[in-house]
Amino acid sequence: MTVFEDRTRRCQSRLADAGADAAVLFPSTNLFYASGFREEPGERHLFLFVPSDGDPVFVAPQMYDEQIGDASWVADRRLWDDGEDPMALVGAVADELDLRGGRLLVDDRMWALFTQDLRETLPDATFGLASEVFDDLRVRKDEAELAALRAAGAVADEASVAVRELGEDAIGMTETELAGEIERLLAERGGGDLSFGTVVGSGPNGAKPHYRHGDREIERGDPVVLDFGAYVDDYPGDQTRTVVFAGDPPEEFERVHEVVREAQQAGVEAAEPGVPAEAVDRAAREVIEEAGYGDRFTHRTGHGVGLDVHEEPYVVAGNETELEPGMVFSVEPGVYLPGEFGVRIEDLVAVTEDGCERLNDSPRTWKPL
Ligand code: CO
Repeated sequence: MTVFEDRTRRCQSRLADAGADAAVLFPSTNLFYASGFREEPGERHLFLFVPSDGDPVFVAPQMYDEQIGDASWVADRRLWDDGEDPMALVGAVADELDLRGGRLLVDDRMWALFTQDLRETLPDATFGLASEVFDDLRVRKDEAELAALRAAGAVADEASVAVRELGEDAIGMTETELAGEIERLLAERGGGDLSFGTVVGSGPNGAKPHYRHGDREIERGDPVVLDFGAYVDDYPGDQTRTVVFAGDPPEEFERVHEVVREAQQAGVEAAEPGVPAEAVDRAAREVIEEAGYGDRFTHRTGHGVGLDVHEEPYVVAGNETELEPGMVFSVEPGVYLPGEFGVRIEDLVAVTEDGCERLNDSPRTWKPL
């Protein structure tokens, strides 16, 4: 049995336990997780029906026949040609699997265009979200997944060290030029697609947590937030360092950087099996609050990482999910002073039997390497 079939079988027993009749997946990481077939969402109707019992069925455009056949263990493919009505095929599959009055869990990231078509074709069905069964399956990573996440962590670490070695040479580069350099370094070290838009937030731009990059030139003494990663073997890297390439940073920066570094360390130390995810947030946040910057830490401490770069478990107040070995998430506290600078330090960690393993270990100091 392939790893993908095994996952599907476990999904099916959870569907049955949840009182659902089928999951209906759309091109997404859930579809890849269960079938081994990966595709971007598009305007053509492409579904995988995973009934709670029996074998799954693809409904797909004819042009994907060979591609799905090569990539997936799912043998049953119902194909439609451009110009035909794909929902007629969906209706036939629903009849065969007895889903017309059933409870269907649709992919959380299915486009509304397609959920509307499902509702019209199956007016007597009731609908929920596939995350109800998939999140809990995906949240514990197996050894192969952990190996891929470690490899993506190593690529990000190596690129981080290499870009910091620019030192003086980075002064005068624009943020966009530096982002291009980071992306070249990631690719050179084996990184594939970017995990997300590379962040190079220099000076005041670093105070905007989700800023990407722009035409501001990096100056001597600028704190620069560098947050980036790339996929390796289908799993993403994600790490952040806040650095100074050359010159003396503002005085307050040194203090803030030390507070954030200590907060990040406290978060990592709090991560172990049996504690709720929110305890990691609390541990990091306490350090920042005690230093008087609590109101400048404007986001949760972290997010799970797997096939999606943001997934369960979220490291946030109110998340009482108990940490278990195999869970992977970021620990990334930050302090943001509008108009001045920002500081964020981020590593991914994997929960082990007795604590956690950092998947990133490049130097956390702001000082030039
Ligand atoms: Co992150």
